[in-house]
Amino acid sequence: MKIALLGGTGDIAEGLVLRWSKVGHKIFIGSRSDEKAKGIASEYRDTLSKLGLNSSIEGMINAEAALAAEVVIISLPFEHATSTIRQIQSSFTNQIVISPVVPMVKKGKVFVYSPPSQGSAALEIKEALPNTVKLVSAYHNLPAKELRKIDHVLEYDVVICGDDEEAKAVVKRLTEEMPNLRALDAGSLEASMMIEAITPLLINLNMRYKPQEFSVKFV
Ligand SMILES: NC(=O)c1ccc[n+]([C@@H]2O[C@H](COP(=O)([O-])OP(=O)(O)OC[C@H]3O[C@@H](n4cnc5c(N)ncnc54)[C@H](OP(=O)(O)O)[C@@H]3O)[C@@H](O)[C@H]2O)c1
Repeated sequence: MKIALLGGTGDIAEGLVLRWSKVGHKIFIGSRSDEKAKGIASEYRDTLSKLGLNSSIEGMINAEAALAAEVVIISLPFEHATSTIRQIQSSFTNQIVISPVVPMVKKGKVFVYSPPSQGSAALEIKEALPNTVKLVSAYHNLPAKELRKIDHVLEYDVVICGDDEEAKAVVKRLTEEMPNLRALDAGSLEASMMIEAITPLLINLNMRYKPQEFSVKFV
């Protein structure tokens, strides 16, 4: 598939780009800076080439990346997600959009979930997108540090939610192409707040139990 990552130069994007490239997807890394995106794309192509793998990874500005793709990942900090989406509105048509976005703040020594008035990052993002796109919430609980080690098998569950069954089926397939992730459907987009809220808990645990990188697995 053609997959774009807005803010694709950042932490969570790296592992997704490398792992999806490995299985043959065409990747568009988006950025505010065309030069930065092209530089990172070239680094990731080199990484895969050293492993003897061909890849199709291109860098470009966010608006061009979203326009070129069938699936768009909002791999942006919560504070800049909806403003970026609004700036590139005309690039969205009928794509599947995936939000891994987690709104959180530090209170004293711990991170806590800090959702917007809509109830979750996903519901705020939905308002900013044209209603022709299909939004799926996923990947909030995946640690970027483990995801980027592309030879590591990830024994985690990825809880997804959204209002479009076909879009969720596509996201389930994309997720399970990354060994050994298992996608679990938690229902409509309204459920996103519960998935997003686990992330600050995981980060607090990771800080206490370094170098452990916790994620979630339902048994
Ligand atoms: N990191 C994780 O382990 C992890 C795990 C699960 C979910 N998430 C979620 O995934 C999202 C991305 O996280 P991340 O850790 O990858 O973030 P990040 O590395 O801090 O930032 C991602 C990209 O956002 C862009 N960006 C930064 N400031 C911006 C601004 N003012 N306006 C527009 N774009 C801006 C930058 O791209 P350019 O400079 O190239 O434009 C940057 O490379 C977050 O919502 C986070 O909650 C992260």
